[in-house]
Amino acid sequence: MKICRTKADMRETVRAWKRAGLRVGVVPTMGFLHDGHIGLVRLARETGDRVITTIFVNPTQFGPNEDLSTYPRNEERDLALLEAEGVDAVFMPNVEEMYGAGGDTYVEVPGLSGVLQGALRPGHFRGVTTVVTKLFNITTPDFAVFGEKDYQQLAVIRQMVRDLDMPLEIIGHPTVREADGLAMSSRNVRLTPEHRREAIALSRSLDRAAELALSAPSIETLEAAIRDELSKASSADVQSVDIRDAVTLQDMTGKLDRPAVLLMAVRFGTVLLIDQRVIAPAS
Ligand code: PAF
Repeated sequence: MKICRTKADMRETVRAWKRAGLRVGVVPTMGFLHDGHIGLVRLARETGDRVITTIFVNPTQFGPNEDLSTYPRNEERDLALLEAEGVDAVFMPNVEEMYGAGGDTYVEVPGLSGVLQGALRPGHFRGVTTVVTKLFNITTPDFAVFGEKDYQQLAVIRQMVRDLDMPLEIIGHPTVREADGLAMSSRNVRLTPEHRREAIALSRSLDRAAELALSAPSIETLEAAIRDELSKASSADVQSVDIRDAVTLQDMTGKLDRPAVLLMAVRFGTVLLIDQRVIAPAS
């Protein structure tokens, strides 16, 4: 497995693969890998001839009061896991290599980025789309794999790729969960034992809403059921519960008459967890 710490090294590595006619996939990550990431890597392995994983904790997508400095990192373990999965190259630049000095250009998808998580975290998606564009430009992949857990992120990236005619395919991978239903996240390790126990309220509330969806409920009934289930976790600080059109992320009201995505962000202490589920009307 090749480890590339510079853009030049990464570019040279991909250039050789492309000359040989190989199909190259990239899995962008911020490291501290878990089974959710491994699912993305395996899908990339099945889809292409060569797989690159990028590991870069991107400062521009963290707000001033967010957890950049405490974001978990474990380079050695990450590399061992990726090696075991047969990843061909890892791109892991430091911040200086990635951004240099004097950068003044951003990539932004204002509509989809300004709602939901984007409204709670101003600038977050601008940081994501800018770094993902840079990663695509450096690794020049034929396809990239992202988790559906970060539903809005995936929607924003798909729109960016469409709007800017980026020559690659974006592939979504279903959320990977712990045995009790908690969506896997690098942040889970920072939950206290009590918060970890209560955090399953997120997936439970989504299960309850999905079950209710079978009886043609209103959007308002679904939201109330989700909030009711979340309220059973006494330490859950619910930041947002949203039910949106699964494609446009626009608000929905009244009858559930088309596919919708249920989205939630819940804080346990200092740890912000998100989860999502797409549901369709019973018919
Ligand atoms: O989903 C993530 O881990 C990050 O937002 C990404 C896509 C690697 C960009 O930094």
